[in-house]
Amino acid sequence: MYAIVAESLVKTYGGVPALDGVSFEVDRGEVFGFLGPNGAGKTTTIKILTTLIKPTAGRAEVLGCDIYRMGHEIRRRIGVVQQQESYELNLSVEKALDLYGFIWGVPRSRRRELVDELLIRFGLSEVRKVKAGDLSIGMRRRLQVAREFMHDMELLFLDEPTIGLDPIVRRQTLDFIKSKAREGLTIFFTTHILEEAEYLCDRIAMINRGRIVVVDTPDNLKREFGKIRKVEMRAKHSIPDDFIMRLMADSSFDRVSRIDPQTVSVICSTPGEAIAQMLRLADKFRLEIVSIYAAEPTLEDVFIGIITSDA
Ligand SMILES: Nc1ncnc2c1ncn2[C@@H]1O[C@H](COP(=O)(O)OP(=O)(O)O)[C@@H](O)[C@H]1O
Ligand SMILES: [Mg+2]
Repeated sequence: MYAIVAESLVKTYGGVPALDGVSFEVDRGEVFGFLGPNGAGKTTTIKILTTLIKPTAGRAEVLGCDIYRMGHEIRRRIGVVQQQESYELNLSVEKALDLYGFIWGVPRSRRRELVDELLIRFGLSEVRKVKAGDLSIGMRRRLQVAREFMHDMELLFLDEPTIGLDPIVRRQTLDFIKSKAREGLTIFFTTHILEEAEYLCDRIAMINRGRIVVVDTPDNLKREFGKIRKVEMRAKHSIPDDFIMRLMADSSFDRVSRIDPQTVSVICSTPGEAIAQMLRLADKFRLEIVSIYAAEPTLEDVFIGIITSDA
């Protein structure tokens, strides 16, 4: 049985679609990554699946329970680390953890064990007596993620859990999540950081503007990304439209965009040839070039690269 089944989920806000027909399945025991830029619809998807909001259309089952009719059972069996802060700022770190376990009905002795373990695992031992409200943003985020492990669950939703964390703590947090996954916890994880998704996830769904672009294993996606490069060229003076049109007419470039009057970028699979071609063209147009280089594409570039090569 699947941990999550989402079928044609739509959510509109004032007529504007935040989700525009999202479908996917998550296996039990799987770490499933939802990867996409800001505004893609990641949080909206989590809110629907955790029954905080209702979709405008479509259906979904979480742990075999219908999101419309069995919200209570779903909420009892899942854990959620939301994107925004949601805890008592006046409580000390250890009290905040303990209270959360209490709310979930965890017995006192078990709570004590869990608090001690989580303080260590999340590097919060030194601030255990500090009020949550007095913590740095990174520490608060750690507390918010740690807190969720005060209770047992079958499926954990994490909405950009590593935002605000420095690289070392980020890695520790991902490793902790990974260890829980190995113990059999199913995880639905959102991020806008490609490397994080690669590090943690069995499969990744890429979402952009409320639509899933592709779902695959990190290995397969990497193979796809490996082919894509971005070449950016900056001229001393404004680049003529004709120059841009000539690049657009070249079928070896997936996408040509004018960044500003003097800068143009192309997405392609053979950056060496692209640079040679652009230099030849610049020569014809007597364009003076300030810089030209090939770079790793951003996530946005990758999405668009995949969409264009699909078309
Ligand atoms: N309560 C809301 N009212 C209006 N628009 C919203 C609301 N929540 C989200 N949106 C819009 O829906 C889109 C998706 O948002 P969200 O799911 O938060 O994206 P992500 O988490 O991927 O950054 C965005 O364009 C956002 O502005
Ligand atoms: Mg979000």
